[in-house]
Amino acid sequence: MARMLKKALTGIFNETEIQLLYGGFDVVGNIAVIKIPDSLMTKKRIIATTLLDKIKPVTTVLMQSTPVSGDFRTRHLELIGGEDKTTTEYREHGCIFKVDLATAYFSPRLSTERQRIAELVQPGETVVNLFAGVGAFSIIIAKKVPETRIYSVDINPEANQQAIENIRVNKVNKNVIPILGDARNVVSQIEEKAERVLMPLPEKAVEYLDTAIKLLKTPYGVVHYYTHTYASRRENVFEDPTKEIKKNILKNRYSIVSKRIVREVGPRWYQVVLDLKIST
Ligand SMILES: C[S@@+](CC[C@H](N)C(=O)[O-])C[C@H]1O[C@@H](n2cnc3c(N)ncnc32)[C@H](O)[C@@H]1O
Repeated sequence: MARMLKKALTGIFNETEIQLLYGGFDVVGNIAVIKIPDSLMTKKRIIATTLLDKIKPVTTVLMQSTPVSGDFRTRHLELIGGEDKTTTEYREHGCIFKVDLATAYFSPRLSTERQRIAELVQPGETVVNLFAGVGAFSIIIAKKVPETRIYSVDINPEANQQAIENIRVNKVNKNVIPILGDARNVVSQIEEKAERVLMPLPEKAVEYLDTAIKLLKTPYGVVHYYTHTYASRRENVFEDPTKEIKKNILKNRYSIVSKRIVREVGPRWYQVVLDLKIST
């Protein structure tokens, strides 16, 4: 994507300006979301026009003007070209998601990870998704493995509402149970124990490890633990997350059954996932 934009702007921007463009942009349905450095702010309309011209489905270009922040993990988006809207329909792994990018978190960059998790789930499992957003992990699992029950928790009322609509549209009402609330407080609403708990909130997952473990079936279950980490060398990327886990799983035995880099989130910053098998 980054290469595509840089190529499209060659001849319009000089070499220095091209180098200044950040890593890339996301396309969600027919909306492109891009971060633009301050030094190129006067050129934001040209960037928008180029994206509208060159990227086939795009009819709206939004500039992300703040980092993702707050409990709801949302960001400020400014229209810089095309149709004025923040809601779109996005397709992934045979599912349709209606998302409002201004009111709920959504990233197409988690697509591979969503598929990986769905492939690990076995028929008959109970799964809890503690930080479900608009329901993408939960719905993709339910579509792929219909004999599962997935509790899909989120604290953001807008995200929860979009998840409810996405559950309906994808016809997985029998399998996916949306729950609005703080992950820590909703545990009591989940009446059964789970084989698997997903924790896709890298900024804070560590604070909810005890909650995740309480949800697991005896004698053991799996937790997919996401975190952000800095590593000056890529080969050392799992060192700190491994220490973090060791420090925070105090009473339970555990093993790390697999680990992978989900994506790079900045220079030498990574989002990683550790799959933990935990004895309860
Ligand atoms: C990174 S997003 C999840 C992305 C989602 N899994 C996906 O595939 O699109 C993290 C989500 O956690 C939610 N969240 C943050 N704190 C929470 C909490 N204490 N309890 C439940 N949900 C929370 C946010 O509202 C946000 O939707």
